[in-house]
Amino acid sequence: MVAAEPRRGGSASPDDGGDVRHGKCGIGRRRAGETPTSREDSIERHSPDAIEAEYDRLAADYERRWRRYLDASIAATLSRLRLGEPERVLPERVLDVGCGTGLLIARLAEPLPDARLFGVEPSAGMLRMARAKRLPRAALVRAVAEQLPLRALSFDLVLTLSALHYWHEPAAGMREIYRVLRPGGRVVVTDWCLDYLTTRAIVGQLRLTRRPLGRVFGAAALRQLLEGAGFADVVVERYRIGLVWGMMTAVARKL
Ligand SMILES: C[S@@+](CC[C@H](N)C(=O)[O-])C[C@H]1O[C@@H](n2cnc3c(N)ncnc32)[C@H](O)[C@@H]1O
Repeated sequence: MVAAEPRRGGSASPDDGGDVRHGKCGIGRRRAGETPTSREDSIERHSPDAIEAEYDRLAADYERRWRRYLDASIAATLSRLRLGEPERVLPERVLDVGCGTGLLIARLAEPLPDARLFGVEPSAGMLRMARAKRLPRAALVRAVAEQLPLRALSFDLVLTLSALHYWHEPAAGMREIYRVLRPGGRVVVTDWCLDYLTTRAIVGQLRLTRRPLGRVFGAAALRQLLEGAGFADVVVERYRIGLVWGMMTAVARKL
């Protein structure tokens, strides 16, 4: 496997089960001089270790417990990719950031029968579930969005699904996605959307009960995050999953 190269002391490649996580790379606190731009941004974020431990704990039951949400969020994301359109050039190398148990990667196998699929995921428990699927044409690495152990300019499409609200450094993660995309490549971000009252209520409840969480974005803030990383042609769509989940999917391009 030659897709991944170690970066800044990291040793991860899809084959060696390498480990490039916050604890190992020194990310974990807001950078000195970084000023909060919204109330959400000023909230103290949980440590990456707490988030990792939460997902290690949830991993075995994750897909069963969240099935309906997962099916709906994957379908909403894939529909916005419009992979079925006849004139669409299909991506050959695709990355899922925060791939969890690998469900999205599994669902990409059919519409992208020739693509090489990659996933990065910090939770060892979630990664174990993903690897147990023995996904064909897929390589899975333990890593965080903020430090992708992957070559620059090596992907046509990067997706991230329901993971952004856990990233400790969203701007750094988005810059990493920009770095690994080829010019013309697309990023697709699906996540909870803070513009919905119901989402704000859920987030408030999670904060009250001190459940691990990072920053939750609204549509305007997500657009800003993408444009700040250098992306163009940003389109953010908001929608609901069921009555409760206020969601959004952003599609953007690296020029
Ligand atoms: C709600 S799950 C979503 C998993 C998968 N994308 C899905 O849709 O089923 C959130 C995932 O984000 C991962 N995650 C947490 N912090 C991350 C980070 N800094 N970079 C990448 N992924 C992260 C978690 O370990 C967890 O697997």
